[in-house]
Amino acid sequence: MATDRIVLGIESSCDETGVGIVSRGRLLGHAVASSMDEHARFGGVVPEIAARAHLHSFNPVVREALNRAGLRLSDIDAVAVTTGPGLAGALQVGLAGAKTLAYSTGVPLYGVHHLAGHVAADTLEHGPLPDPCVVLIVSGGHTSLLVVRDLVRDPIVHLGDTVDDAAGECFDKAARVFGLPYPGGPAIDRAARGGDPRAVAFPRPLTGPKDDPYAFSFSGLKTAAARWAERHRLGDQEIPLSDGAASLQEAVADVLTRKALAACRAYGVRTLLIVGGVAANSRVRALAEERCAAAGVGLRVPPLSLCTDNGAMIAAVGDLLLRAGADPAPLDLSVDPSAPLEYASLHPVARPSAAGAA
Ligand code: KG4
Ligand code: ZN
Repeated sequence: MATDRIVLGIESSCDETGVGIVSRGRLLGHAVASSMDEHARFGGVVPEIAARAHLHSFNPVVREALNRAGLRLSDIDAVAVTTGPGLAGALQVGLAGAKTLAYSTGVPLYGVHHLAGHVAADTLEHGPLPDPCVVLIVSGGHTSLLVVRDLVRDPIVHLGDTVDDAAGECFDKAARVFGLPYPGGPAIDRAARGGDPRAVAFPRPLTGPKDDPYAFSFSGLKTAAARWAERHRLGDQEIPLSDGAASLQEAVADVLTRKALAACRAYGVRTLLIVGGVAANSRVRALAEERCAAAGVGLRVPPLSLCTDNGAMIAAVGDLLLRAGADPAPLDLSVDPSAPLEYASLHPVARPSAAGAA
């Protein structure tokens, strides 16, 4: 069996059109176009604008990724694409493009779960994942604590999820009431520099002795941040933004890392992986490092450029599926905007032990 087959991955679930090219766990090149600026004045992603932007960006981003890898379309051995979860129209554009590329070049197609892509992103920088690892996925739409064994062969075990908002959503919405630009996460991160993380006693939701140790809740924290901002405005004071941002960031980072390490301890797992857009947060990264070091747990976090949405992470899952001998998707593969994270692929593949290792 050939050992250096090349996979092109496509991501279009939200506002980033990403294309990445991976071979045997190695990133050969990738490109991302974002429609974020077009959404900024609406304070959030507008689905129709995102879908149209994917349509405009698809061909140029494929071309750019191929150029960066020094490859041509005819060099590609498989295509992987995000088929869910995400915005239906945005996913449709990526899937239609992926089918066109796969069908016209006669290569297999794989439908990939977006969040499995976030997990696989780390392998491009730090190599294969240890089995098992605890994974904390923190993005704009999801917050989940998982036990991952073999990412493409085994079912993904959910220890807990958010019961309301995702951590990224909390940052995005709090940023809005703080008067910061969209997307809120990076804006809060910047605003927090120099702020006092103990200035405001924001709550630590679901951390009581009777609470589910692995479930998350961020909507109360979001409301607490809004009330705090309102109180300061009503008092006609200049809002002490850096303190509010630093305190909010501290509360989110504290809850996330506390629960992730509790999971590592309870399940006897020695590696924690933190992925998704919020893994780019400087305080989440620093506190995770501190607490993992104290607990003797190895921490893996992808580089910043691979934390937010990109095509390389989808190519990374496609590469693992291809090497595991997984069945490709039928060409009538469709999108699943609210796909639960159960397996890395979003169509039936030969698993778990029926798939032969490459
Ligand atoms: O994974 P991602 O790019 O897209 C989704 O799949 O949702 O995550 C986007 C989220 C947004 O909520 C954004 O505000 C947040 O990640 N984010 C951050 C930072 N960079 C991105 N949150 C906190 N601090 C950051 N530095
Ligand atoms: Zn994402």
